[in-house]
Amino acid sequence: MAAAREKVAARHVRRELLENQSLELLQTLHLVTRDGQLNADARRKLKQVNHLVGLLQPALDDVQGRVEAPTVVDVGSGNAYLGFVLYELFFKDRAAGEVLNVESRAELSAKGNERAQALGFSRLRFTTASIAEAAYPKKLHLLTALHACDTATDDAMAVALAHQSDHIALVPCCQAELAQQLKDARPKVEASMQALFSHPWHRREFGSHLTNVLRALVLEANGYQVTVTELAGWEHSLKNELILARRVGHQNGIAKQRLAALLDATGVAPKIVRVLRGEAGVAG
Ligand SMILES: C[S@@+](CC[C@H](N)C(=O)[O-])C[C@H]1O[C@@H](n2cnc3c(N)ncnc32)[C@H](O)[C@@H]1O
Repeated sequence: MAAAREKVAARHVRRELLENQSLELLQTLHLVTRDGQLNADARRKLKQVNHLVGLLQPALDDVQGRVEAPTVVDVGSGNAYLGFVLYELFFKDRAAGEVLNVESRAELSAKGNERAQALGFSRLRFTTASIAEAAYPKKLHLLTALHACDTATDDAMAVALAHQSDHIALVPCCQAELAQQLKDARPKVEASMQALFSHPWHRREFGSHLTNVLRALVLEANGYQVTVTELAGWEHSLKNELILARRVGHQNGIAKQRLAALLDATGVAPKIVRVLRGEAGVAG
């Protein structure tokens, strides 16, 4: 465990790479230092991204087996380590298909575009926009949102649902919205249920858990098969819940009922639910 927090000397860096992953990519992304070392933070990030890529492999194999020019979208992409790794491993050697990164901070998308150009990754694109307002291709094949803060994950889900993304991968982050809603709803909630979130600390934890339970139910209700799993060991990140969804197409009445019952019992309405009800901005 301690070893994962240590830097890696230049002569050992190749051991950290996936098959077909290049050192050049890590250098361009500044994940390795000038003298070729992988420092502890960069190593943790690389481990997390590479682990996620392993978990996404079945989704990528599925779309690449069926679709000539698939579209992968990573929203809230930040430095876009995920997008770069996906492009190098799954798109670079194919004739068609693209990876689109959506990021609200212009300096990050500008840097991403520069790096994509330097690497000759011509179908790795960046757009500066909010997740809810960006322009997307009509059909998405895989949408990923890795640590998109708070309700940005709901915006990502709304985009994925509106564009019938074949696959969705969410690693939610700091889902704080429901703690306040639980506080306001407490007087109307059944007493035994109230005990679950009477203390502020429990309200934060329960609100965070409830948010992701509701997100999984929303996806199921809207025709997805959902798997909730761990992104990486606790030694790599504290935010490590991964929600993977595969579109099976048929609406799920049981999930709809469970979703309605849980919303009713807890008195909350997270952003994705409000968006789908038409009460909050709908993603394009
Ligand atoms: C915690 S970082 C994660 C970056 C990257 N996905 C990763 O895991 O390394 C969250 C990123 O999402 C961007 N972001 C947050 N909310 C957003 C929104 N509504 N629309 C677009 N980008 C957003 C932030 O600017 C930031 O770069």
